[in-house]
Amino acid sequence: MAIGIDNNPFNPGYGEIPPVLAGRDNLKNEVNRRLTKTYKGEKHPTAIALVGPRGCGKTALLGWIEEKAEKKKLPVIRLVKQHFESVDNLAKALTENADSNLRSRAYSIRGGLKDPTGHLGSAEVELKKESEYTPIENTLYLTNLLAAASTKGLAILVDEAHDLPPEVGRYFYDAAQSAAQRNPILLVIAGTPDLKSVLRRSKATFIERMNTRNIGLLSWDDTSRALIEPFGNNITFDDNAKFSILSKTQGYPYFIQHWGSALWDVLVRKGVTHVGDEEVKDARNTVDQLRNDLYFNRIKEFESKGMLVPVAETAFRIGEGGKPSAYEFDVTIKRMSHTLDKLEAEEKLLHTGFIWQEGIGNWQFGIPSLATYVREHGTEMIFNQIKIENALPSLRKVHSYFKLASKLPTSYLEENLNKFLKGTSQENQADDHLAFFSELGILCPGRKPDYCLLAAPLLTEAIFEKAERLEAKPEMEPNQEPTLQTRHESDDDYTPSM
Ligand SMILES: Nc1ncnc2c1ncn2[C@@H]1O[C@H](COP(=O)(O)OP(=O)(O)O)[C@@H](O)[C@H]1O
Ligand SMILES: [Mg+2]
Repeated sequence: MAIGIDNNPFNPGYGEIPPVLAGRDNLKNEVNRRLTKTYKGEKHPTAIALVGPRGCGKTALLGWIEEKAEKKKLPVIRLVKQHFESVDNLAKALTENADSNLRSRAYSIRGGLKDPTGHLGSAEVELKKESEYTPIENTLYLTNLLAAASTKGLAILVDEAHDLPPEVGRYFYDAAQSAAQRNPILLVIAGTPDLKSVLRRSKATFIERMNTRNIGLLSWDDTSRALIEPFGNNITFDDNAKFSILSKTQGYPYFIQHWGSALWDVLVRKGVTHVGDEEVKDARNTVDQLRNDLYFNRIKEFESKGMLVPVAETAFRIGEGGKPSAYEFDVTIKRMSHTLDKLEAEEKLLHTGFIWQEGIGNWQFGIPSLATYVREHGTEMIFNQIKIENALPSLRKVHSYFKLASKLPTSYLEENLNKFLKGTSQENQADDHLAFFSELGILCPGRKPDYCLLAAPLLTEAIFEKAERLEAKPEMEPNQEPTLQTRHESDDDYTPSM
Protein backbone atom coordinates (compact mmCIF):
# COMPACT_ATOMS: atom_id res chain seq x y z
CA MET A 1 0.00 0.00 0.00
CA ALA A 2 1.31 3.45 -0.91
CA ILE A 3 2.07 5.66 2.01
CA GLY A 4 -0.21 8.67 2.35
CA ILE A 5 -0.99 11.43 4.76
CA ASP A 6 -4.10 9.59 6.00
CA ASN A 7 -2.61 6.18 6.66
CA ASN A 8 0.24 7.08 9.00
CA PRO A 9 0.25 3.98 11.25
CA PHE A 10 2.29 5.44 14.10
CA ASN A 11 0.54 6.46 17.27
CA PRO A 12 2.51 9.03 19.18
CA GLY A 13 1.12 10.04 22.55
CA TYR A 14 0.07 8.22 25.67
CA GLY A 15 -2.17 5.18 25.92
CA GLU A 16 -2.14 4.56 22.17
CA ILE A 17 -1.70 1.05 20.88
CA PRO A 18 1.32 1.16 18.53
CA PRO A 19 1.27 -0.49 15.08
CA VAL A 20 3.94 -2.94 16.32
CA LEU A 21 3.98 -3.54 20.06
CA ALA A 22 7.59 -4.67 20.06
CA GLY A 23 9.39 -6.62 22.78
CA ARG A 24 7.81 -7.66 26.09
CA ASP A 25 7.67 -11.18 24.66
CA ASN A 26 7.88 -13.09 27.94
CA LEU A 27 5.21 -10.93 29.46
CA LYS A 28 2.91 -11.29 26.46
CA ASN A 29 3.32 -15.08 26.53
CA GLU A 30 2.63 -15.21 30.24
CA VAL A 31 -0.47 -13.03 29.95
CA ASN A 32 -1.73 -15.03 27.01
CA ARG A 33 -1.48 -18.26 29.00
CA ARG A 34 -3.16 -16.67 32.00
CA LEU A 35 -6.03 -15.33 29.87
CA THR A 36 -6.67 -18.77 28.39
CA LYS A 37 -6.59 -20.43 31.79
CA THR A 38 -8.88 -17.78 33.27
CA TYR A 39 -11.33 -18.29 30.44
CA LYS A 40 -11.30 -22.02 31.19
CA GLY A 41 -12.22 -21.26 34.79
CA GLU A 42 -8.82 -21.94 36.40
CA LYS A 43 -7.98 -19.96 39.50
CA HIS A 44 -4.61 -18.23 39.77
CA PRO A 45 -4.77 -15.56 42.42
CA THR A 46 -1.39 -13.93 41.62
CA ALA A 47 -1.96 -10.49 40.16
CA ILE A 48 0.42 -8.97 37.60
CA ALA A 49 1.84 -5.47 38.11
CA LEU A 50 3.34 -3.56 35.16
CA VAL A 51 5.78 -1.02 36.55
CA GLY A 52 7.79 1.54 34.62
CA PRO A 53 8.36 5.21 33.84
CA ARG A 54 5.80 7.17 31.84
CA GLY A 55 5.97 6.67 28.09
CA CYS A 56 7.39 3.13 28.25
CA GLY A 57 4.17 1.38 27.21
CA LYS A 58 2.17 0.25 30.25
CA THR A 59 -1.16 1.55 28.97
CA ALA A 60 -0.42 0.22 25.50
CA LEU A 61 0.14 -3.20 27.09
CA LEU A 62 -3.15 -2.99 28.98
CA GLY A 63 -4.82 -2.20 25.64
CA TRP A 64 -3.13 -5.22 24.09
CA ILE A 65 -4.30 -7.43 26.99
CA GLU A 66 -7.85 -6.13 26.61
CA GLU A 67 -7.84 -6.96 22.88
CA LYS A 68 -6.48 -10.45 23.54
CA ALA A 69 -9.05 -11.08 26.26
CA GLU A 70 -11.88 -9.96 24.03
CA LYS A 71 -10.67 -12.24 21.25
CA LYS A 72 -10.79 -15.12 23.70
CA LYS A 73 -14.30 -14.00 24.77
CA LEU A 74 -13.11 -13.39 28.30
CA PRO A 75 -15.03 -10.53 29.96
CA VAL A 76 -12.83 -7.51 30.74
CA ILE A 77 -13.32 -4.63 33.15
CA ARG A 78 -11.01 -1.63 32.84
CA LEU A 79 -10.80 0.51 35.94
CA VAL A 80 -9.45 4.04 36.29
CA LYS A 81 -9.04 6.46 39.16
CA GLN A 82 -12.63 7.77 39.02
CA HIS A 83 -13.99 4.30 39.76
CA PHE A 84 -12.13 4.35 43.05
CA GLU A 85 -13.69 7.57 44.28
CA SER A 86 -16.32 5.60 46.19
CA VAL A 87 -17.22 1.99 46.91
CA ASP A 88 -20.47 2.54 45.04
CA ASN A 89 -18.67 3.81 41.93
CA LEU A 90 -16.45 0.78 41.99
CA ALA A 91 -19.41 -1.53 42.64
CA LYS A 92 -21.18 -0.08 39.64
CA ALA A 93 -18.23 -0.75 37.35
CA LEU A 94 -17.84 -4.30 38.67
CA THR A 95 -21.47 -5.24 38.20
CA GLU A 96 -22.37 -3.88 34.78
CA ASN A 97 -22.45 -7.38 33.29
CA ALA A 98 -22.51 -9.50 36.42
CA ASP A 99 -24.64 -12.56 37.07
CA SER A 100 -27.85 -11.05 38.46
CA ASN A 101 -28.58 -13.69 41.16
CA LEU A 102 -25.12 -13.48 42.59
CA ARG A 103 -25.25 -9.74 42.31
CA SER A 104 -28.41 -9.41 44.36
CA ARG A 105 -26.84 -11.67 46.97
CA ALA A 106 -23.95 -9.23 47.11
CA TYR A 107 -26.32 -6.30 47.53
CA SER A 108 -28.06 -8.00 50.40
CA ILE A 109 -24.74 -8.12 52.23
CA ARG A 110 -24.78 -4.40 51.91
CA GLY A 111 -27.80 -4.43 54.22
CA GLY A 112 -30.52 -4.07 51.64
CA LEU A 113 -31.36 -4.32 48.01
CA LYS A 114 -29.33 -1.35 46.98
CA ASP A 115 -28.49 -1.65 43.33
CA PRO A 116 -25.82 0.64 42.02
CA THR A 117 -26.75 -0.14 38.41
CA GLY A 118 -30.46 0.47 38.95
CA HIS A 119 -31.26 -3.02 37.60
CA LEU A 120 -33.11 -4.27 40.61
CA GLY A 121 -35.55 -1.47 41.16
CA SER A 122 -36.05 0.38 44.39
CA ALA A 123 -34.48 -0.45 47.70
CA GLU A 124 -36.82 -1.95 50.28
CA VAL A 125 -34.61 -1.47 53.25
CA GLU A 126 -33.32 1.88 54.28
CA LEU A 127 -29.70 1.98 53.36
CA LYS A 128 -26.81 3.27 55.37
CA LYS A 129 -24.63 6.01 53.96
CA GLU A 130 -21.46 4.72 52.34
CA SER A 131 -19.31 6.05 55.17
CA GLU A 132 -21.30 4.01 57.72
CA TYR A 133 -20.12 0.64 56.42
CA THR A 134 -17.17 -0.98 58.13
CA PRO A 135 -14.04 -1.90 56.13
CA ILE A 136 -15.00 -5.57 56.45
CA GLU A 137 -18.47 -4.91 55.07
CA ASN A 138 -17.01 -2.96 52.17
CA THR A 139 -14.47 -5.66 51.36
CA LEU A 140 -17.06 -8.42 51.61
CA TYR A 141 -19.42 -6.51 49.37
CA LEU A 142 -16.76 -6.03 46.69
CA THR A 143 -15.59 -9.64 47.04
CA ASN A 144 -19.10 -10.86 46.34
CA LEU A 145 -19.56 -8.50 43.44
CA LEU A 146 -16.29 -9.77 41.95
CA ALA A 147 -17.53 -13.33 42.33
CA ALA A 148 -20.77 -12.32 40.58
CA ALA A 149 -18.84 -10.68 37.75
CA SER A 150 -16.46 -13.59 37.15
CA THR A 151 -18.75 -16.55 36.52
CA LYS A 152 -17.43 -16.66 32.94
CA GLY A 153 -13.93 -15.69 34.02
CA LEU A 154 -12.81 -12.10 34.29
CA ALA A 155 -9.81 -9.91 33.46
CA ILE A 156 -9.58 -6.70 35.50
CA LEU A 157 -7.20 -4.04 34.24
CA VAL A 158 -6.29 -1.08 36.43
CA ASP A 159 -4.24 1.74 34.94
CA GLU A 160 -2.39 4.47 36.89
CA ALA A 161 -2.61 2.32 40.01
CA HIS A 162 0.02 4.48 41.77
CA ASP A 163 -2.59 7.22 41.88
CA LEU A 164 -5.68 5.45 43.27
CA PRO A 165 -7.51 6.90 46.26
CA PRO A 166 -5.99 4.64 48.93
CA GLU A 167 -9.14 4.02 51.00
CA VAL A 168 -11.26 2.41 48.29
CA GLY A 169 -8.10 0.97 46.75
CA ARG A 170 -7.44 -0.97 49.93
CA TYR A 171 -10.93 -2.55 49.96
CA PHE A 172 -10.50 -3.38 46.31
CA TYR A 173 -7.12 -5.10 46.71
CA ASP A 174 -8.38 -7.10 49.69
CA ALA A 175 -11.50 -8.08 47.79
CA ALA A 176 -9.60 -8.93 44.60
CA GLN A 177 -7.17 -11.06 46.56
CA SER A 178 -9.86 -13.12 48.25
CA ALA A 179 -12.20 -13.29 45.24
CA ALA A 180 -9.35 -14.54 43.02
CA GLN A 181 -8.76 -17.48 45.40
CA ARG A 182 -12.16 -18.89 44.56
CA ASN A 183 -12.94 -17.42 41.14
CA PRO A 184 -11.20 -17.24 37.75
CA ILE A 185 -9.95 -13.66 37.88
CA LEU A 186 -6.83 -12.19 36.31
CA LEU A 187 -5.95 -8.80 37.79
CA VAL A 188 -3.37 -6.66 35.97
CA ILE A 189 -2.42 -3.30 37.45
CA ALA A 190 -0.07 -0.70 35.93
CA GLY A 191 1.77 2.22 37.49
CA THR A 192 4.90 4.35 37.67
CA PRO A 193 7.94 3.11 39.64
CA ASP A 194 6.54 4.49 42.91
CA LEU A 195 3.71 1.92 42.69
CA LYS A 196 5.31 -0.59 45.04
CA SER A 197 6.01 2.04 47.62
CA VAL A 198 2.43 3.36 47.40
CA LEU A 199 1.03 -0.17 47.76
CA ARG A 200 3.41 -0.99 50.58
CA ARG A 201 2.07 2.01 52.44
CA SER A 202 -1.56 1.07 51.97
CA LYS A 203 -1.66 -2.67 51.47
CA ALA A 204 1.29 -4.78 52.53
CA THR A 205 -0.08 -8.26 51.83
CA PHE A 206 -1.20 -7.64 48.26
CA ILE A 207 2.24 -6.56 47.11
CA GLU A 208 3.79 -9.82 48.32
CA ARG A 209 1.37 -11.76 46.16
CA MET A 210 1.75 -9.90 42.92
CA ASN A 211 4.09 -10.61 40.08
CA THR A 212 5.95 -7.42 39.13
CA ARG A 213 7.03 -6.92 35.53
CA ASN A 214 9.24 -3.94 34.79
CA ILE A 215 8.42 -2.06 31.63
CA GLY A 216 11.42 -0.01 30.53
CA LEU A 217 13.29 0.93 27.36
CA LEU A 218 13.25 -1.41 24.35
CA SER A 219 16.36 -3.24 23.10
CA TRP A 220 17.96 -2.25 19.79
CA ASP A 221 16.28 -5.09 17.91
CA ASP A 222 12.86 -4.38 19.37
CA THR A 223 13.27 -0.67 18.64
CA SER A 224 14.10 -1.58 15.07
CA ARG A 225 10.98 -3.75 14.76
CA ALA A 226 8.72 -1.11 16.30
CA LEU A 227 10.04 1.62 14.01
CA ILE A 228 10.90 -0.04 10.70
CA GLU A 229 8.22 -2.74 10.28
CA PRO A 230 5.24 -0.37 10.06
CA PHE A 231 6.83 1.21 6.93
CA GLY A 232 6.39 -2.06 5.07
CA ASN A 233 8.63 -3.44 2.30
CA ASN A 234 8.22 -0.57 -0.15
CA ILE A 235 10.18 1.87 1.97
CA THR A 236 13.96 1.45 2.08
CA PHE A 237 16.50 2.87 4.52
CA ASP A 238 20.16 3.87 4.20
CA ASP A 239 22.11 1.94 6.84
CA ASN A 240 23.44 5.17 8.24
CA ALA A 241 20.05 6.81 8.38
CA LYS A 242 18.52 3.77 10.06
CA PHE A 243 21.29 3.61 12.65
CA SER A 244 20.94 7.30 13.34
CA ILE A 245 17.16 7.13 13.89
CA LEU A 246 17.31 4.06 16.10
CA SER A 247 20.01 5.70 18.24
CA LYS A 248 18.01 8.86 18.60
CA THR A 249 14.91 7.08 19.90
CA GLN A 250 17.06 5.73 22.76
CA GLY A 251 14.72 2.74 22.85
CA TYR A 252 12.10 4.94 24.52
CA PRO A 253 8.68 3.88 23.12
CA TYR A 254 7.23 7.38 23.26
CA PHE A 255 10.08 8.68 21.07
CA ILE A 256 9.83 5.68 18.74
CA GLN A 257 6.27 6.57 17.80
CA HIS A 258 7.15 10.25 17.32
CA TRP A 259 10.10 9.35 15.09
CA GLY A 260 8.03 6.93 13.02
CA SER A 261 5.20 9.39 12.62
CA ALA A 262 7.43 12.35 11.70
CA LEU A 263 9.44 10.29 9.21
CA TRP A 264 6.28 8.96 7.57
CA ASP A 265 5.00 12.51 7.08
CA VAL A 266 8.36 13.60 5.59
CA LEU A 267 8.23 10.75 3.04
CA VAL A 268 4.67 11.66 2.08
CA ARG A 269 5.52 15.35 1.76
CA LYS A 270 8.58 14.72 -0.38
CA GLY A 271 6.94 11.95 -2.39
CA VAL A 272 9.92 9.60 -1.86
CA THR A 273 10.19 5.98 -0.71
CA HIS A 274 13.77 5.99 0.53
CA VAL A 275 15.04 7.26 3.87
CA GLY A 276 18.46 8.94 3.72
CA ASP A 277 20.22 11.59 5.79
CA GLU A 278 18.06 14.40 4.40
CA GLU A 279 14.80 12.72 5.45
CA VAL A 280 16.22 12.05 8.92
CA LYS A 281 17.19 15.70 9.22
CA ASP A 282 13.71 16.85 8.21
CA ALA A 283 11.96 14.51 10.63
CA ARG A 284 14.35 15.53 13.35
CA ASN A 285 13.09 19.11 13.27
CA THR A 286 9.62 17.89 14.24
CA VAL A 287 10.78 15.35 16.80
CA ASP A 288 13.19 17.75 18.51
CA GLN A 289 10.39 20.18 19.18
CA LEU A 290 8.19 17.47 20.71
CA ARG A 291 11.05 16.06 22.71
CA ASN A 292 11.99 19.46 24.07
CA ASP A 293 8.36 19.99 25.08
CA LEU A 294 8.51 16.73 27.04
CA TYR A 295 11.83 17.64 28.70
CA PHE A 296 10.52 21.09 29.53
CA ASN A 297 7.43 19.61 31.21
CA ARG A 298 9.58 17.21 33.20
CA ILE A 299 11.96 19.90 34.38
CA LYS A 300 9.00 22.06 35.38
CA GLU A 301 7.64 19.08 37.32
CA PHE A 302 10.98 18.75 39.15
CA GLU A 303 10.89 22.44 39.92
CA SER A 304 7.30 22.52 41.15
CA LYS A 305 7.95 19.61 43.49
CA GLY A 306 11.15 21.14 44.87
CA MET A 307 13.29 18.43 43.27
CA LEU A 308 15.21 20.36 40.64
CA VAL A 309 18.41 20.95 42.61
CA PRO A 310 18.67 17.38 44.03
CA VAL A 311 17.94 15.87 40.63
CA ALA A 312 20.39 18.18 38.80
CA GLU A 313 23.13 17.37 41.31
CA THR A 314 22.48 13.67 40.73
CA ALA A 315 22.69 14.19 36.97
CA PHE A 316 26.11 15.87 37.42
CA ARG A 317 27.36 13.17 39.77
CA ILE A 318 26.43 10.38 37.39
CA GLY A 319 27.82 12.29 34.41
CA GLU A 320 27.40 11.84 30.67
CA GLY A 321 27.19 8.14 29.79
CA GLY A 322 27.16 7.14 33.48
CA LYS A 323 24.74 4.71 35.07
CA PRO A 324 22.60 5.42 38.15
CA SER A 325 22.95 3.23 41.22
CA ALA A 326 21.20 2.55 44.50
CA TYR A 327 23.77 4.82 46.13
CA GLU A 328 22.84 7.74 43.85
CA PHE A 329 19.18 7.12 44.59
CA ASP A 330 19.80 7.21 48.34
CA VAL A 331 21.92 10.34 48.14
CA THR A 332 19.27 12.11 46.06
CA ILE A 333 16.60 11.16 48.60
CA LYS A 334 18.81 12.50 51.35
CA ARG A 335 19.13 15.78 49.49
CA MET A 336 15.35 15.95 49.12
CA SER A 337 14.64 14.93 52.69
CA HIS A 338 15.38 18.29 54.23
CA THR A 339 12.09 19.57 52.84
CA LEU A 340 10.18 16.31 52.42
CA ASP A 341 9.49 13.27 54.52
CA LYS A 342 11.80 10.42 53.39
CA LEU A 343 9.05 8.15 52.08
CA GLU A 344 7.37 11.02 50.32
CA ALA A 345 10.71 11.97 48.74
CA GLU A 346 11.21 8.39 47.53
CA GLU A 347 7.77 8.20 46.00
CA LYS A 348 8.10 11.59 44.32
CA LEU A 349 11.47 10.76 42.80
CA LEU A 350 10.37 7.30 41.63
CA HIS A 351 7.15 8.73 40.23
CA THR A 352 9.11 10.99 37.89
CA GLY A 353 10.98 7.93 36.61
CA PHE A 354 14.15 10.06 36.40
CA ILE A 355 16.02 7.08 37.79
CA TRP A 356 14.39 3.78 38.64
CA GLN A 357 15.25 0.17 39.32
CA GLU A 358 14.52 -1.89 36.24
CA GLY A 359 15.56 -5.12 37.93
CA ILE A 360 17.18 -5.96 41.23
CA GLY A 361 20.26 -3.74 41.46
CA ASN A 362 19.80 -2.56 37.86
CA TRP A 363 19.25 1.18 38.12
CA GLN A 364 18.48 3.10 34.95
CA PHE A 365 17.51 6.54 33.73
CA GLY A 366 13.86 6.54 32.63
CA ILE A 367 14.97 8.58 29.58
CA PRO A 368 18.77 8.74 29.34
CA SER A 369 19.00 12.10 27.56
CA LEU A 370 16.75 13.79 30.13
CA ALA A 371 19.77 13.81 32.45
CA THR A 372 21.76 15.71 29.81
CA TYR A 373 18.95 18.18 29.45
CA VAL A 374 18.72 18.64 33.22
CA ARG A 375 22.48 19.30 33.40
CA GLU A 376 22.22 21.98 30.74
CA HIS A 377 18.88 23.58 31.30
CA GLY A 378 18.31 22.78 34.96
CA THR A 379 21.52 24.67 35.68
CA GLU A 380 20.26 27.54 33.56
CA MET A 381 16.92 27.66 35.40
CA ILE A 382 18.56 27.66 38.82
CA PHE A 383 21.15 30.21 37.68
CA ASN A 384 18.32 32.49 36.52
CA GLN A 385 16.52 32.20 39.85
CA ILE A 386 19.71 33.11 41.70
CA LYS A 387 20.28 36.04 39.35
CA ILE A 388 16.76 37.34 39.94
CA GLU A 389 17.44 37.31 43.70
CA ASN A 390 20.80 39.03 43.13
CA ALA A 391 22.30 36.23 45.17
CA LEU A 392 25.16 35.09 42.95
CA PRO A 393 27.92 36.92 44.90
CA SER A 394 26.50 35.47 48.13
CA LEU A 395 26.50 31.98 46.66
CA ARG A 396 30.14 32.39 45.58
CA LYS A 397 31.05 33.48 49.09
CA VAL A 398 29.12 30.67 50.79
CA HIS A 399 30.72 28.18 48.41
CA SER A 400 34.18 29.48 49.38
CA TYR A 401 33.41 28.96 53.11
CA PHE A 402 32.79 25.28 52.42
CA LYS A 403 36.35 24.94 51.17
CA LEU A 404 37.31 25.19 54.85
CA ALA A 405 35.02 22.44 56.10
CA SER A 406 32.25 20.27 54.73
CA LYS A 407 29.90 21.21 57.60
CA LEU A 408 29.63 24.71 58.99
CA PRO A 409 27.59 26.27 61.80
CA THR A 410 24.70 28.30 60.37
CA SER A 411 25.70 31.18 62.63
CA TYR A 412 29.17 31.21 61.04
CA LEU A 413 27.63 31.49 57.56
CA GLU A 414 25.27 34.24 58.69
CA GLU A 415 27.97 36.32 60.39
CA ASN A 416 30.46 36.10 57.56
CA LEU A 417 27.94 36.66 54.82
CA ASN A 418 26.62 39.68 56.69
CA LYS A 419 30.12 41.10 56.85
CA PHE A 420 30.64 40.39 53.17
CA LEU A 421 27.44 42.16 52.15
CA LYS A 422 27.97 45.16 54.40
CA GLY A 423 28.05 48.40 52.44
CA THR A 424 26.67 46.74 49.27
CA SER A 425 23.18 47.07 47.87
CA GLN A 426 22.55 43.66 49.43
CA GLU A 427 23.29 44.77 52.98
CA ASN A 428 21.25 42.85 55.62
CA GLN A 429 20.17 40.24 53.10
CA ALA A 430 22.42 37.46 54.37
CA ASP A 431 19.60 35.63 56.18
CA ASP A 432 17.38 35.98 53.18
CA HIS A 433 19.97 34.57 50.81
CA LEU A 434 20.78 31.67 53.10
CA ALA A 435 17.09 30.84 53.44
CA PHE A 436 16.77 31.03 49.66
CA PHE A 437 19.70 28.61 49.14
CA SER A 438 18.10 26.22 51.65
CA GLU A 439 14.76 26.46 49.91
CA LEU A 440 16.39 25.64 46.58
CA GLY A 441 18.16 22.68 48.20
CA ILE A 442 21.68 24.01 47.64
CA LEU A 443 22.21 24.16 51.41
CA CYS A 444 20.80 21.57 53.77
CA PRO A 445 20.88 21.01 57.53
CA GLY A 446 23.69 18.83 58.83
CA ARG A 447 23.31 16.08 61.40
CA LYS A 448 24.44 18.28 64.24
CA PRO A 449 21.82 20.89 65.07
CA ASP A 450 22.50 24.34 63.59
CA TYR A 451 25.04 23.02 61.12
CA CYS A 452 24.79 23.34 57.35
CA LEU A 453 26.08 21.33 54.40
CA LEU A 454 26.60 22.29 50.79
CA ALA A 455 24.15 19.80 49.29
CA ALA A 456 24.79 20.42 45.60
CA PRO A 457 28.50 21.16 45.09
CA LEU A 458 28.74 20.03 41.45
CA LEU A 459 25.68 21.99 40.43
CA THR A 460 26.99 25.06 42.27
CA GLU A 461 30.23 24.87 40.29
CA ALA A 462 28.23 24.48 37.08
CA ILE A 463 26.27 27.60 38.01
CA PHE A 464 29.54 29.51 38.40
CA GLU A 465 30.79 28.22 35.06
CA LYS A 466 27.56 29.32 33.46
CA ALA A 467 27.98 32.77 35.01
CA GLU A 468 31.58 32.99 33.75
CA ARG A 469 30.56 31.98 30.26
CA LEU A 470 27.87 34.62 30.20
CA GLU A 471 30.14 37.27 31.73
CA ALA A 472 32.77 36.46 29.11
CA LYS A 473 30.23 37.27 26.40
CA PRO A 474 28.84 40.61 27.51
CA GLU A 475 27.97 41.55 23.92
CA MET A 476 25.42 38.73 23.79
CA GLU A 477 21.89 40.01 23.59
CA PRO A 478 19.55 38.39 26.12
CA ASN A 479 17.42 36.87 23.39
CA GLN A 480 20.50 35.15 21.98
CA GLU A 481 21.17 33.33 25.21
CA PRO A 482 20.47 29.63 25.17
CA THR A 483 16.90 29.01 26.17
CA LEU A 484 15.00 26.00 27.40
CA GLN A 485 13.99 25.28 23.85
CA THR A 486 17.59 25.09 22.59
CA ARG A 487 18.32 22.17 20.33
CA HIS A 488 19.57 19.24 22.20
CA GLU A 489 22.30 17.34 20.38
CA SER A 490 23.90 15.04 22.86
CA ASP A 491 21.77 11.93 22.47
CA ASP A 492 23.38 11.05 19.15
CA ASP A 493 25.88 8.66 20.60
CA TYR A 494 23.34 6.74 22.66
CA THR A 495 22.77 3.15 21.64
CA PRO A 496 20.07 1.13 23.37
CA SER A 497 21.22 -2.20 24.76
CA MET A 498 21.29 -5.05 22.27
N1 LIG B 1 6.32 -1.98 22.90
C1 LIG B 1 6.13 -0.87 22.20
N2 LIG B 1 6.58 -0.76 20.93
C2 LIG B 1 6.36 0.38 20.23
N3 LIG B 1 5.71 1.46 20.71
C3 LIG B 1 5.23 1.41 21.95
C4 LIG B 1 5.41 0.24 22.76
N4 LIG B 1 4.83 0.46 23.96
C5 LIG B 1 4.31 1.71 23.90
N5 LIG B 1 4.53 2.28 22.71
C6 LIG B 1 4.12 3.65 22.33
O1 LIG B 1 4.73 4.53 23.28
C7 LIG B 1 3.87 5.58 23.66
C8 LIG B 1 3.68 5.58 25.17
O2 LIG B 1 3.00 4.39 25.57
P1 LIG B 1 2.03 4.34 26.85
O3 LIG B 1 1.40 3.01 26.85
O4 LIG B 1 1.15 5.53 26.89
O5 LIG B 1 3.10 4.46 28.03
P2 LIG B 1 2.81 4.54 29.60
O6 LIG B 1 1.41 4.07 29.84
O7 LIG B 1 3.85 3.65 30.21
O8 LIG B 1 3.01 5.99 29.96
C9 LIG B 1 2.57 5.34 22.88
O9 LIG B 1 2.62 6.16 21.73
C10 LIG B 1 2.63 3.87 22.48
O10 LIG B 1 1.96 3.64 21.27
MG1 LIG C 1 -0.12 5.13 30.81
